[in-house]
Amino acid sequence: MITVALAKGRLAQKATEILEKCGLKLDELKIETRKLVLYDNSGQFKFVFVKPSDVPTYVERGVADFGVVGKDTLLEADRDIYEMLDLKFGKCRMCVCGYPDSLTNAGGILKVGTKYDKITKEYFGAKGKTIDVIKLHGSIELAPIIGLADVIVDIVESGKTLEANGLQVLEEVCSCSARLVVNRVSLKTKKGLLELLEKIKENI
Ligand code: PRP
Repeated sequence: MITVALAKGRLAQKATEILEKCGLKLDELKIETRKLVLYDNSGQFKFVFVKPSDVPTYVERGVADFGVVGKDTLLEADRDIYEMLDLKFGKCRMCVCGYPDSLTNAGGILKVGTKYDKITKEYFGAKGKTIDVIKLHGSIELAPIIGLADVIVDIVESGKTLEANGLQVLEEVCSCSARLVVNRVSLKTKKGLLELLEKIKENI
């Protein structure tokens, strides 16, 4: 049995499409359900659907042999797992965003709203800039609008959320996409896993 942790939402659909191209039959995954554990038709693969930020934890602890998660989540989690493949979908950019003059106009210590406090601290730390990180969990774009933060660090995909709220990209931190991450022990001990990973590589 091989267990796969998938991030609920944007990335799960694309990940299952690749697995189908590799020959897995995933009928149960196509049915609208609230079940959190699902199986492929053969019963050899188990799928768990978890919050994106929990995927690295499941894989590091070995309750999932591999998982699919965004590079943004991976950088933020900083776990002992093997990032094996760039799956090339779910592409987006991690950016510093705000009003055109937000960086220059900020008086004193720059206030930065973000879900990604580790990435944010590292980015500004590397520039030698002291900042005040304001940890948020969603609707990050609201922070500069309402005056909670000077700028935000967030993912930008289409740019529509920024545009709709009168904000823009000020600096790019890094580019992100979906990554396949593997538990280090599973990689050495599960033969079927290596075979599947080879097939996935051919189907990206
Ligand atoms: C993400 C991100 C931006 C938006 C960017 O939010 O935090 O708000 O997507 O996408 P866009 O450039 O295509 O507009 P998400 O939808 O994950 O919701 P959130 O507000 O809960 O973070």
